[in-house]
Amino acid sequence: MSKLNKLLKQYKCGKKISCITAYDASMSKYLESLGVDIMLVGDSLGQVIKGERTTHNVSLDEIIYHAKCVRSGVKRSILMADLPSNTYETKNIAYKNALKLSSSGLADLIKIEIDANNMDIAHYLLTKKIPLCAHIGLLPQTIRSKSGYRKYGKTKSEAKKLYDIAIELDQAGAPIILLECIENTLAKRISKNCKAPVIGIGSGNGLDGQVAVIYDLLGISFNKIDMFTTNEKKSLDKKIINFKKRLQ
Ligand code: KIV
Repeated sequence: MSKLNKLLKQYKCGKKISCITAYDASMSKYLESLGVDIMLVGDSLGQVIKGERTTHNVSLDEIIYHAKCVRSGVKRSILMADLPSNTYETKNIAYKNALKLSSSGLADLIKIEIDANNMDIAHYLLTKKIPLCAHIGLLPQTIRSKSGYRKYGKTKSEAKKLYDIAIELDQAGAPIILLECIENTLAKRISKNCKAPVIGIGSGNGLDGQVAVIYDLLGISFNKIDMFTTNEKKSLDKKIINFKKRLQ
């Protein structure tokens, strides 16, 4: 049985799914040792690894490089990789690039950002048996201004569109659905009515699993460092300070 099918079976028995981003072997090995189910090689690497303002300039080669690093650190966990911006504009390009990630055994799941404009691509990949994580709601690859960083599905019409997209993808066989920044009651309704597990980030509790960016958990995400004085960051600070003290 594939690792993905095993996880889906466990989900049906009530397991909640944990998904954390990883970009290298040490971190993925560490996260696997703690039983994290899915390592996401996300295009958030544009921000947290490359220090850019958006995810827009991440290339497929960069995702492949980091996926190879993460793959070295994991045996049991699922490796999910993003198709980055401009790599799934047409059905054929999407399929060719998804295969680059999945056919070599690099990625167990491929994530793409989906809205009403590219549902045909999602359907095509699903008919081609690409194991797809359907990312809906806030779609960082298409955001062009700060106002795009908000909760989605607050108005009736936006909520209906998102709900319909999620149900359509579920019925088309998407094995996992990821909701980013979707209004919490809508997110719960989507999770309740989908067969597939629905995992979320910034979409409230009560879903089938949660997603986190590792540097956010550590409190040291690029561009957000000053905002975070979490206990996690304090204990990391202490380690660095002690390391420096030992030099004196
Ligand atoms: O790239 C990423 O890390 C993501 C998560 C924020 C869901 O897509």
